[in-house]
Amino acid sequence: MVVLISQPKFQRIALLAAGCVLVTYFLLRTDRVPYQTTWGYVHTSFDWAKRQPRYPIVESSMTKLPEGTPRDLPLIQHVFTQDELNESHNKTQADRRDAIRDAAIKTWNAYTEYAWGRDQVQPQSLRGIDTFNGWGATLVDSLDTLWIMGLKKEFKQAVRMVAKIDWAKTDSRDCSLFETTIRYLGGLLSAYDLSGEKVLLKKAAELGEMLYAAFDTPNNLPANAFNFRAVHEGLLYASKRESTAAVGTLSMEFTRLSQLTGDPKFFNVIDNIKKHFERTQDTTKLPGMWPMYIDLHNNFITEDNAFSLGAMSDSAYEYLSKMYTLLGGLDEAYKRLHTKAMSTIKSHLLFRPMLPDAYPASPPDILFSGTVLSNGKLIELLPDVSHLGCFAGGMFALGGKLFHDEDHVRIGERLARGCAWAYDAFPTGVMPEISAVVPCKQTAELSQCEWNETLWREKGPSGADAVKLPKPFTVMRDKQYLLRPEAIESLFVLYRITGKADLLDLAWRMWQAVKAATETKFAFSAIVDVNADGFTTKIDAMESYWLAETLKYFYLIFSDPGLISLDEFVFNTEAHPFKLPKAAHGKGR
Ligand SMILES: *[C@@H]1O[C@H](CO)[C@@H](O)[C@H](O)[C@H]1NC(C)=O
Ligand SMILES: *[C@@H]1O[C@H](CO)[C@@H](O)[C@H](O)[C@H]1NC(C)=O
Ligand SMILES: *[C@@H]1O[C@H](CO)[C@@H](O)[C@H](O)[C@H]1NC(C)=O
Repeated sequence: MVVLISQPKFQRIALLAAGCVLVTYFLLRTDRVPYQTTWGYVHTSFDWAKRQPRYPIVESSMTKLPEGTPRDLPLIQHVFTQDELNESHNKTQADRRDAIRDAAIKTWNAYTEYAWGRDQVQPQSLRGIDTFNGWGATLVDSLDTLWIMGLKKEFKQAVRMVAKIDWAKTDSRDCSLFETTIRYLGGLLSAYDLSGEKVLLKKAAELGEMLYAAFDTPNNLPANAFNFRAVHEGLLYASKRESTAAVGTLSMEFTRLSQLTGDPKFFNVIDNIKKHFERTQDTTKLPGMWPMYIDLHNNFITEDNAFSLGAMSDSAYEYLSKMYTLLGGLDEAYKRLHTKAMSTIKSHLLFRPMLPDAYPASPPDILFSGTVLSNGKLIELLPDVSHLGCFAGGMFALGGKLFHDEDHVRIGERLARGCAWAYDAFPTGVMPEISAVVPCKQTAELSQCEWNETLWREKGPSGADAVKLPKPFTVMRDKQYLLRPEAIESLFVLYRITGKADLLDLAWRMWQAVKAATETKFAFSAIVDVNADGFTTKIDAMESYWLAETLKYFYLIFSDPGLISLDEFVFNTEAHPFKLPKAAHGKGR
């Protein structure tokens, strides 16, 4: 404006006229591009679809999505009776659900007020920060949660912002293929599946085109560290030490993208990964599982010696049975991969903790999943209790239903109850990131053992400054709670599968503890120490998964079991539900 006013009059008129022409031009153009009129859609400034690959894959050599009629898979959810959904049940559910929704609204308001468009809001200092390339991680991750909770006004406000995301614009030199896939791509695909808003699929496809370039390496295995400069120069290589989770957690998102766009290339690259998992499954140092790190650069070497369901591995296992479901049961390879992996996990990773006798009746029937070190002959179990590993209950139970294995459903329940029990064991009512207990001997039945105080003292906290740990915990390697979802995730899955009403009370107890320990004036925050008595010190961090996962699972467990039914949707590891092929579970849907 300042410049315009200082111009001579005729120049001003000329500029105004030129402006009018431009405006008219864009108005006319928008008429031909429906997304722009609806949501103010802006295409990403670099068209990744037009990028020339250094190591192209020709379409004729691609593996296509399996063809055929989706199989009639077993029903996953418990069939709830009207007696179970009685008036008092419905009333309690509604009250609890409303409480979760209030927490979500509070969180969302903090984000829109103080960090709109940024990756996350800091819950205490109320500043926006960018931790995932500044494309608006919380914005995209929350879309489906807003939709599910019926927050339609907020959903529309978010879509309008998402329609303008430019995947070519970021201050970082690289992005994480894994994080970008599960949060951004997963969030967009799920929000599209729920709402049918085409602009979300368009943004997902744009992003998919970009992430596809991560596979432009000499062996077409992905580079998780997606370095923009290396990508543009065709110099990307897959890592010699990549976490198994990073390579094994792209399959659902890339498959859904192929299903929705009809473009087979996304599915082709993750099917290639599956073949490497198949080829190596029986030859690792713990046959049936893959180590936490894999050498991708040298064609998928799996010689490392550490195995776990926690960080670095978790969702690679989670996705095996879920891929079987997403593909309508048309790829038996995923069933074999899952079945073998679960069998090894059951024999070597699962254990029952030694529990004090303080219980009036029998001690609770619970399990945890630890870490195994193996050189191929000696197998050592480290009895870790890791929050990230708490998803395993849901995984076992889902697979058990899917493949008619009631024993696995039961194991899933014991694992889910184990994490809920661990929450209860700490004074805040929340379990830490990583702790350890004393394991019972791993018998086939994973049966209980006697409490041995001497043994616990030997393994347990020692020295003058040892933390006062509740029994039966021996070590606390990381005492934080980071607002994580895995424990409530498994309770949710187990409730939908078994219909057992006491799981709802466990979930509510968990919620009250989490709320009391983490709530700040404007939002919720990760905390420093779950073993603190009374006041909890906050970390001033709230990642996007709090709204995407934790609050969504809390909301869903207290909702009508028909809302996002496990017979119609399958969740990615960031709690984004993808729609299943029509005939997936149960006849007549
Ligand atoms: C209502 O259903 C719940 C489980 O959903 C059950 O625990 C409770 O006993 C039922 N109440 C009545 C009055 O039937
Ligand atoms: C308890 O543990 C100690 C230390 O490992 C061991 O010496 C003792 O035999 C154990 N007691 C029983 C009853 O197993
Ligand atoms: C409780 O809610 C469910 C839906 O979630 C409904 O099917 C059922 O009829 C309700 N029960 C009563 C007693 O109103």
